[in-house]
Amino acid sequence: MIRPFITNRKVLLLFLLVMVLFASSAFPELWYWKFLPEPPPERYGNILINRVSESTGMKPVSFSHWMHRVKYTCKVCHSELGFQLKVNTTLITEQENTKGKYCGACHNGDIAFGHSEENCHKCHNGDIDYGKDKFDNLSYLPAAAYGNGIDWVEAIEEGLINPAAYLRDDRMPVKSVKKLTMYSGWMWMNSHARFSHEVHGKWLGCSNCHPAIFTLEPTTTQGLSMPNIINGEYCGICHGKVSFPINNNCRRCHPTMRR
Ligand code: HEC
Ligand code: HEC
Ligand code: HEC
Ligand code: HEC
Ligand code: HEC
Ligand code: HEC
Repeated sequence: MIRPFITNRKVLLLFLLVMVLFASSAFPELWYWKFLPEPPPERYGNILINRVSESTGMKPVSFSHWMHRVKYTCKVCHSELGFQLKVNTTLITEQENTKGKYCGACHNGDIAFGHSEENCHKCHNGDIDYGKDKFDNLSYLPAAAYGNGIDWVEAIEEGLINPAAYLRDDRMPVKSVKKLTMYSGWMWMNSHARFSHEVHGKWLGCSNCHPAIFTLEPTTTQGLSMPNIINGEYCGICHGKVSFPINNNCRRCHPTMRR
């Protein structure tokens, strides 16, 4: 009577063991998806720019995305004004700034404080939390449990913010392309990632993503995968740095994923 029962359990255990071994060898990346600790909400998306500052005796420059994105869409800076999507890669200099390029396109004493002596420290302060005291002013925006603690998609959709689409150059039309479902090799998961051109189009221009980040060919065949995203490529160029983070937000990109 007892025999078959024990055998069954052994078979079951063996089966489970084989499954675990299979999973760990076939999908090793699952074991080392490493997420960096998330900064506090008021620091999420803040950067220190230090390509040339310290080497010329100035403190690194603090820049806060939440402070600026309330007023301007990403494309104002990342298309029109030529800032790259990676810190310390843009050739910003003080001379260019005072000629009205880069930060100086707005920090000219007109749109925002300019490049006069009393203002140097507002940018060159080496303090990644600079301007933190103003963060509470954004408490009227819809809450989220991640990133800045703000649901930026809802904020724009409810019209609570209305960031400018351009500074001087209104060439860039806001078009929407149909929603895309992206298919990886993991067909059995039935939880493919979704991408909405409409949502992204409210912040970004086509040239922010095409062709540098995404060609118009299916990118999944060219390495669009979670390890690469977590590593800061593809969607991870923005998500995890300025746009909502990846950890704990699986369902925002994979809406049909179970837990
Ligand atoms: C007011 C200008 C401005 C706006 C608006 C802006 N950015 Fe930036 N962003 C910058 C600057 C400046 C840098 C640093 C560039 C450098 O150092 O070369 C930067 C850097 C970045 C980086 C790289 C961060 C890192 O850690 O390497 C990402 C990603 C980024 N921005 C995404 C966005 C997104 C997404 C939006 C819209 C939600 C946005 N930015 C809006 C100015 C802006
Ligand atoms: C609106 C922000 C802002 C203000 C105000 C500002 N700077 Fe800068 N400055 C920058 C940025 C951004 C860079 C590029 C930083 C980098 O890549 O390390 C820079 C670079 C510099 C450099 C590096 C060398 C070079 O030639 O570019 C010096 C020196 C400098 N600034 C001096 C000053 C002085 C002096 C003042 C005040 C009179 C000042 N800055 C005000 C943003 C600012
Ligand atoms: C598209 C216009 C625009 C560009 C480009 C821009 N800024 Fe600003 N920035 C503003 C405006 C407007 C404010 C005032 C925001 C507010 O108080 O609501 C501001 C505020 C700031 C502050 C806050 C100072 C404080 O008192 O809290 C800092 C620091 C700053 N910007 C740095 C930079 C640096 C550094 C760059 C370039 C790397 C830059 N900004 C590029 C428009 C811009
Ligand atoms: C935030 C990044 C981003 C922006 C901004 C963006 N796209 Fe895309 N686009 C993508 C991604 C991701 C894909 C899918 C690539 C894949 O299939 O792997 C894509 C695919 C496409 C395709 C192929 C569609 C298909 O059905 O195969 C077209 C056409 C396209 N984009 C046009 C545009 C146009 C026009 C704009 C500006 C209005 C734009 N995109 C803005 C990320 C972006
Ligand atoms: C910013 C959007 C985004 C977030 C957030 C996100 N993913 Fe993905 N994920 C993708 C894209 C894009 C792909 C590639 C296309 C596909 O497989 O549907 C992908 C692929 C995958 C795959 C297929 C295997 C692989 O490596 O490509 C798995 C499994 C996966 N994601 C799990 C997760 C889990 C678990 C989380 C939460 C910790 C998560 N994803 C968060 C966008 C995202
Ligand atoms: C160039 C920057 C950039 C890239 C690349 C990018 N995104 Fe985003 N994404 C944004 C911004 C900006 C938002 C607005 C919300 C925010 O900032 O948190 C957003 C929002 C979203 C949302 C929320 C949509 C909603 O309806 O709530 C999803 C889902 C998303 N992105 C998925 C993706 C996926 C999947 C990829 C890669 C295939 C990707 N994104 C690539 C910038 C980017």
